[in-house]
Amino acid sequence: MLLSRLRKSPAAPHRGTRSLSRLLRSAGLCAMTAALVIVPAHSASAKSTSAQGEPSPRVVGGTRAALGEFPWMVRLSMGCGGAMYTNQLVLTAAHCVGSTGNNSSITATVGVVDLQDSSAIKRQSTYIHRSPTYGTSTGGDWALIKLATPITGVATLPIATTTAYNTGTFTVAGWGAASEGGPQERYLLKAQVPYVDDVTCRDAGPYYSDLIFAAELCAGRMDVGGVDTCQGDSGGPMFRRDSANAWIQVGIVSHGDGCARPSAPGVYTEVSTFASAIQAAAASLGGGGGPGACGPFTNANNVNIPDAGAAVTSPVTVSGCTGTASSSSQVAVDIKHPYRGDLVIDLLAPDGSSYRLKSASGDSGDNILTTYTTNVSSETRNGTWRLQLRDAYSQDVGYLDSWSLTL
Ligand code: ARG
Repeated sequence: MLLSRLRKSPAAPHRGTRSLSRLLRSAGLCAMTAALVIVPAHSASAKSTSAQGEPSPRVVGGTRAALGEFPWMVRLSMGCGGAMYTNQLVLTAAHCVGSTGNNSSITATVGVVDLQDSSAIKRQSTYIHRSPTYGTSTGGDWALIKLATPITGVATLPIATTTAYNTGTFTVAGWGAASEGGPQERYLLKAQVPYVDDVTCRDAGPYYSDLIFAAELCAGRMDVGGVDTCQGDSGGPMFRRDSANAWIQVGIVSHGDGCARPSAPGVYTEVSTFASAIQAAAASLGGGGGPGACGPFTNANNVNIPDAGAAVTSPVTVSGCTGTASSSSQVAVDIKHPYRGDLVIDLLAPDGSSYRLKSASGDSGDNILTTYTTNVSSETRNGTWRLQLRDAYSQDVGYLDSWSLTL
């Protein structure tokens, strides 16, 4: 029903409408007027089907997420989504928030799919960092919200730091409208949307004519529509699996021409473009895991990993940080290797204590581009940390391209 209705609707707004919508977005009004959520193609049937638990043929559209499936999903009280970036920072859209500075007006809800679940974890905001390039020709619809206190043990969603994952099929999730113009949802919905290249997206209609290629990433079903994010999903993550099969965030719900219309993809902030700006902002905000900023610290020097040989290490010197490390410290690695199952990876603390990040396995895939979360809370932060790599089996060789540590 949604599909046929949408097919009859006008193909696209004229340029004036589109310019107005961009103006409103720049003014940060979108989230105020309409909160986004995932818009499943057959949103109406998806809802009732999920509620009744009966199977029905559904090729496109959204379904309910299970409790714990996307544990880093955040609902923000102004009607937006977000994702836990550290245990005290939420990554969301710039157009969802006001200007940079102290702000205690936002409530973040975490740890539930049902917003009325009494076990929800809630935190107030204390500070907003809104991307300084948002609303400029460079683009950058992202913001970090610092929470009053960390959420101990919460899962976080690592962000893509290269363009490698800006392709394929993405997952989106949110509590926004399940149909264009519809109400916000009580239960978290999820859906899958295919990548749409920049040129196809820009040419999809007048609305998309000033797509910012480097700053925006499009996704949706060009042919039939039916699956999309929508009002109230803004700020929420678009994500996929990385080379180690872990979730990685590639986009932030930003805008679109209506919801789920054919030839009208959703437009997402291109996270990889802003990854270093996000990391730098997070470091300056603190909340990188515990009180006080610490990281990321990076070593981008290549280190060859000898075949079935001795362990090699790459150092990172941490300074200017106080106290002990976080129980959810993050180790981002970029390893080029034709048979990653051969590799054993450990993090060595300054005092030599070793923490296993990955064991050898039969995984024949190539390369490792992922972020490991590890509990090193008994370790003092300052000092020289090392990433230790060992190839346990013969035949394939590779190298460490870069790695970074956030304590
Ligand atoms: N700007 C909207 C909001 O703030 C998000 C719209 C997303 N639209 C889409 N078709 N994917 O809620």
